[in-house]
Amino acid sequence: MILVTGGAGYIGSHTVVDLINNGYDVLVVDNFCNSTVSVIADMEKICGKTILFENINLIDKEAVLALAAKYKFTSVIHFAAYKAVKESSDNPMKYYENNIVGLMNVIQLMQKSGCKNLIFSSSCTVYGEVDKVPVKESSPIQQPLSPYGNTKKICEEIIRDMTSIGAIEAIALRYFNPIGAHTTYLLGDNPQNFDNIMPLIIKVAKGISSHLNVFGDDYNTVDGSCVRDYVHVMDIASAHVKAMERMRKGKMEKAFEAFNLGSEKGYSVFELIKTFEKVNNVKVNFKVVGRREGDVSNIYSDSTLAKEKLEWKINFSIEEMLSSAWKRSLKQT
Ligand code: NAD
Ligand code: WQD
Repeated sequence: MILVTGGAGYIGSHTVVDLINNGYDVLVVDNFCNSTVSVIADMEKICGKTILFENINLIDKEAVLALAAKYKFTSVIHFAAYKAVKESSDNPMKYYENNIVGLMNVIQLMQKSGCKNLIFSSSCTVYGEVDKVPVKESSPIQQPLSPYGNTKKICEEIIRDMTSIGAIEAIALRYFNPIGAHTTYLLGDNPQNFDNIMPLIIKVAKGISSHLNVFGDDYNTVDGSCVRDYVHVMDIASAHVKAMERMRKGKMEKAFEAFNLGSEKGYSVFELIKTFEKVNNVKVNFKVVGRREGDVSNIYSDSTLAKEKLEWKINFSIEEMLSSAWKRSLKQT
């Protein structure tokens, strides 16, 4: 059985569906602090199977360790974390406690269960302000620009230390900017903290907000706005299934491996807005405002390693990302 922490969340739910559709048994552990129980029912609708879940807060060590007596885990995929960048700067301790203590408890559960395989949700944020694009895994890990980002760097370090003593084997997947929704439109991003650009664009297109604030048009990029590597959430999900196969087939070359997951294409904020308008035939009003503190100007991935070693393929275009996100939002109130 695979333990999927945060399996009711945005990326976790898409991954759970993909795992189940590939024949894996899954236990979801989530305390629904940034998701709802209804996601479980939506995943069940897609898979046509009952999904096992436990409502547990991962910082509750006793409750986490008690899972060892109830289930036999072969692998863990650890998604559960807080992820709002701005909130992490306002309240760093909330982030350090949830993201780091949560991981520590999960690893201790693995040790208690004799489970050695871990896949960890990391982020391109561990590369900090990059000197060179596209970013490869060999690019230096730098000080991230937020406490949230720092939790990802620290978690990778904890995991690396545990792999170096042979306690576990781990794959860190460093996501770039996941967007889009499931092709059934039953799953998608349901943010409570509106930091990320995609939910904000949708709010404007729906008329809930008057306009999008574009953070800066004076960067040294194609049109002055920041450039990012947007990647479909279902492509991100499928990489976890591939990483799981790599681990289970004993194909790992080192006890700790890291892979970038991006589409390898950079889109500016203006390009993203224009493409969203064109694909969905809606207007997105915007105003250019000052730069956002901590924004990296231009980052996109070299994901060659994931394609070669995980045999990962990108299946979705930017148009499909933007149209699925919009169609999913129209299904929501
Ligand atoms: P999400 O908030 O939608 O999902 C996280 C899930 O974890 C939620 O269902 C939440 O309820 C649960 N959770 C959080 N803390 C918990 C705790 N203490 N105990 C139990 N459950 C808990 O986030 P997401 O976008 O799906 O992100 C998943 C992972 O990927 C996170 O680790 C995030 O940092 C990482 N990541 C996300 C992005 C992105 O842009 N979405 C990019 C890079 C990395
Ligand atoms: C995208 C672009 C903004 C909002 C964050 C995390 C990173 C990773 C991905 C988890 C940027 C611009 C945004 C707005 C704007 N997550 N923007 N107006 O900053 O690339 O990365 O999510 O690990 O760690 O930092 O994503 O969606 O916030 O911004 O102009 O109102 O949109 O400047 O260029 P970001 P984002």
